[in-house]
Amino acid sequence: MKITAVIGSQRKGSTLAIVRSVESVMRERYSDLEFEYVMLMDADVRMCVGCFNCLARGIEFCPLKDEIPSIIKKIKSSDGVIFASPVYVINVTPYMKNFIDRLSSICHRPELFNQHAMVVSTVGGFGLKQVLKYMKDIAGVWGMRSVTELGLATPPVKNFPPELKAKNDLMIRKSTEKFMKNLEDKGVLKPTLGSVIQFEVQKAIFSKSREDLSADYDFYQLLLDKNYYVEASVPLYKTLIAKTFGSLILRMM
Ligand SMILES: Cc1cc2nc3c(=O)[nH]c(=O)nc-3n(C[C@H](O)[C@H](O)[C@H](O)COP(=O)(O)O)c2cc1C
Repeated sequence: MKITAVIGSQRKGSTLAIVRSVESVMRERYSDLEFEYVMLMDADVRMCVGCFNCLARGIEFCPLKDEIPSIIKKIKSSDGVIFASPVYVINVTPYMKNFIDRLSSICHRPELFNQHAMVVSTVGGFGLKQVLKYMKDIAGVWGMRSVTELGLATPPVKNFPPELKAKNDLMIRKSTEKFMKNLEDKGVLKPTLGSVIQFEVQKAIFSKSREDLSADYDFYQLLLDKNYYVEASVPLYKTLIAKTFGSLILRMM
C-alpha cells in the first residue's frame, strides 16, 4: 500500500502531527505500508505565473521548472493521497492553494481515477467546514475515487485540554479506518451524479471550440461517445440528467 501525504502547513506543527498519527494507525494494518511526505514548504514549488499554458496546451508546457512533475508522479503511483492544510483565514494555506493552482489542468482534464483521497485540516475555532469542503470538492474534480474527511480543532493553547486530545485521537482513528476501507475497494468505478454532471458539462463546453483551449478540445474529442472519463458504471438516468445540464449550460453561454 502506497500513500503520499501532501502537506501545505507553513510550519511543522499540529497538521503534520495529525498526519503522522494517521500513518501510525495505518501501520497497524499494513505491514507493507510506504508512506511518503511532501512538505510543500520544503519543496521547490514555484508560484503559478498565470500563463494559461497548462490549461490551453498541457501541463508539460508550464514554464516553471520545479518539483511539480515529480510530485504528480508520486501521486499517480500511490493508492491513496492525503491533502492536509491548516485553516488560514477560512481558507487553505498559500502553499496548498498554489499547489492546487499548479494542478489546474487536472481540473479541466481529470486523471486521478485510481487514487483515493483523504483531506485533513486543523483549526483554532472557525473555518474548518469551508476548508474541508473546498479540498473535498477539488479532489472530486480531479477524479479521485473517494474522499475521506478528517477535520480537527487544535487551538494554539499552552495547556491542550486532555478531553479534546482524546476526542481528536478517536476521530483520527475513525477517519483512518474509513480511508482504509475505501482504499481496499477495488471494484468498478461508480461516479456520483455530481461527477457525471461535471463530465457532461466539461465535454459540452470544451468540445465546442479548438481555438482557445486546444488541450481540452483534443481530450474531449476522444470522449464524445463515452459516458465518463474512464471505464465506469454509470446508470442511464445519471447520464440523462447530466446531459440536460450540459445542454442548458451551452445555451446560456
Ligand atoms: C495566519 C493564520 C491564520 C489562521 N486562520 C484561522 C482561521 O481563520 N480560523 C481558525 O479557527 N483558526 C485559524 N488559525 C489557527 C490555525 O488554523 C490552527 O492553529 C492550526 O491548527 C495550525 O496548524 P499548524 O500547527 O499545522 O500550523 C490561523 C493561524 C494562522 C497562523
